Amino acid sequence: MNKALSIFIGVLISTSVSAQTDPNLGIIPAPVSITRANGNFILDKTTVLINKSIDGEKSTDLINAFIVTKAGFALRETKAVSPNQKSILLTSVGADKLPAEGYTIKVTPAQIILTGKGAGLFYAVQSIMQMMPDKVSDNIIIPAVDINDYPRFGYRGTMLDVSRHFFPISFIKKYLDQLAYYKINTFHWHLTDDQGWRLEIKKYPKLTSIGSSRNGTIIGNYPGNGNYLTEVKGFYTQNEAKEIVKYAADRYITVIPEIELPGHASAAIASYPELSCFPNRDTFIGDKTPWSGSRKGKQVQQTWGVFDDIFVPSENTFNMLNNILDEVIAIFPSKYIHIGGDEAPKTYWKESPFCQALMKEKGLKDEHELQSYFIQTIEKHVNDKGRSIIGWDEILEGGLAPNATVMSWRGEDGGIAAAQQNHDVIMTPGSMGLYIDHKQSNSPDEPVTIGGFAPYQKIYGYDPIPKILTADQRKYIKGVQANMWSEYIKTPEKAENHAFPRLLALAEIAWSPVERKDLKNFTEERLPIHLARLDKLGINLWIPTPIGQSDKTLTGGDFSIDLKVPITNGKIYYSLDGSRPSENAFLYNSPVKVIVPQGEKRTLKTIVIAASGRRSVTTETILNNGALDVKPEAKK
Ligand code: ACM
Repeated sequence: MNKALSIFIGVLISTSVSAQTDPNLGIIPAPVSITRANGNFILDKTTVLINKSIDGEKSTDLINAFIVTKAGFALRETKAVSPNQKSILLTSVGADKLPAEGYTIKVTPAQIILTGKGAGLFYAVQSIMQMMPDKVSDNIIIPAVDINDYPRFGYRGTMLDVSRHFFPISFIKKYLDQLAYYKINTFHWHLTDDQGWRLEIKKYPKLTSIGSSRNGTIIGNYPGNGNYLTEVKGFYTQNEAKEIVKYAADRYITVIPEIELPGHASAAIASYPELSCFPNRDTFIGDKTPWSGSRKGKQVQQTWGVFDDIFVPSENTFNMLNNILDEVIAIFPSKYIHIGGDEAPKTYWKESPFCQALMKEKGLKDEHELQSYFIQTIEKHVNDKGRSIIGWDEILEGGLAPNATVMSWRGEDGGIAAAQQNHDVIMTPGSMGLYIDHKQSNSPDEPVTIGGFAPYQKIYGYDPIPKILTADQRKYIKGVQANMWSEYIKTPEKAENHAFPRLLALAEIAWSPVERKDLKNFTEERLPIHLARLDKLGINLWIPTPIGQSDKTLTGGDFSIDLKVPITNGKIYYSLDGSRPSENAFLYNSPVKVIVPQGEKRTLKTIVIAASGRRSVTTETILNNGALDVKPEAKK
């Protein structure tokens, strides 16, 4: 087995259910068009694999590795086919006419033809893998079909915050494997913040010798319950960061690094206090925390929030930041360099005689214009190096830098304003479900989160193109992104729980045309198969609650509760006696009839248990027939 084959084989595990009845053939994200034809292609040991594409070697290896895990045999690779020999052909003929990242798949009883180049061919392979059901005897039966597919958006992203908590390289790679499988092509790496600087910078070693560790972290929701864990530390060497860039590029994923400025800068300031307006001022920790008030000297922050100590816009700061960005640019080949720009309080700038004098000298009327000056100074340097900046929507305040792309996170308004000013936009509004650090259900079983409510259905329902924009302005919406902030996400397992299944919904809104969206088909036909696959891969996904169950009170006396299992090979257990359901409760097999006498109520409690034993939160439905002690519904 060659090296690429062995790399890929570890991440491929089969799904277990035939996708033949599903109009989308089990593919997530749903393709642009699927036209079924007569007959099937029967893949067996005699099938050969032919690579005639310009860059398909990686794809050929990938497909063969998948077939090994699925069927237990590898296909023979050959250059030419003899008559009547069944084959899978990878080709680039005609690929030039396809849209960027586009591909076609043609399945006939005699042949499977995958057409594309680069990312397009890679995505054709992801789709054909998703279309393959389990083997029957030694055959894999694939229905005849014509697929034509390409993305709605060129930017399909997800952000991971590695500052609040640190995540090892091994996890990042495992995560990237799944992004690629779902055609998510951008990994935004939030590398610096108040609670830790996570990238080696050779010219400024204190950024990591001091800035990459903190001595405490609150336990529980802010401001914490009085206890704290001791140390959180970690950083990526430049070689490790390059390894991630290469690993991602092999999967057609671009890594965008984020270096936060001028705010969220406590870790950098703790390392180099001269970056502050007031280098001798002690760090203010927060007035509600177990260790409230100030600590001697500058500190890497140990709790969450927005802190006043931000970068001073001095020549020294710009020199340092430019040098840092030069090292960042040398590691990351991405067009975009993310410079943060969010949540920079102006308190210190208002108090600083230096800042006030600078504003006067530059003719800046307020501190927002000073922030704009800061960002524009950085933009000029980044542009001189042939790259572009992207920043959170606060970079609109005080005037947008000439070539900046805006990431709209405080709702859609920032994105709308930027598009109206002819600037590129990535939509990532927290209010629309795109903050995947938010909780996924209202069950008390949910782990501690930062708050908010973002079930995957909310992401699925979001259209990144605001209706208020004109046809011309809509072209500036380049894509959509989900963000995982890690204040309350300390481990890779919890990160996986927050990511899946939500990233699958993100993939569909980022790739599929709006008219192909179908929540019922997504939830009931495709997701169960994909979730079983993730479960089998050992990914700690969030197991959905039963399809068809409401967590609201139902009124009446005679109920028939009709549920569906949300994950293939999973089981639903339920109780009606108030006990917490487990394997010891009733197994759900068919609709449950419940008669509730007048003036009484019953509580249906369910749990879903996946094949691995992973379980969902408990969901409760109150069945009320006029009982008076039922509390009004909590506001969602
Ligand atoms: C952000 O959530 N502060 C971009």
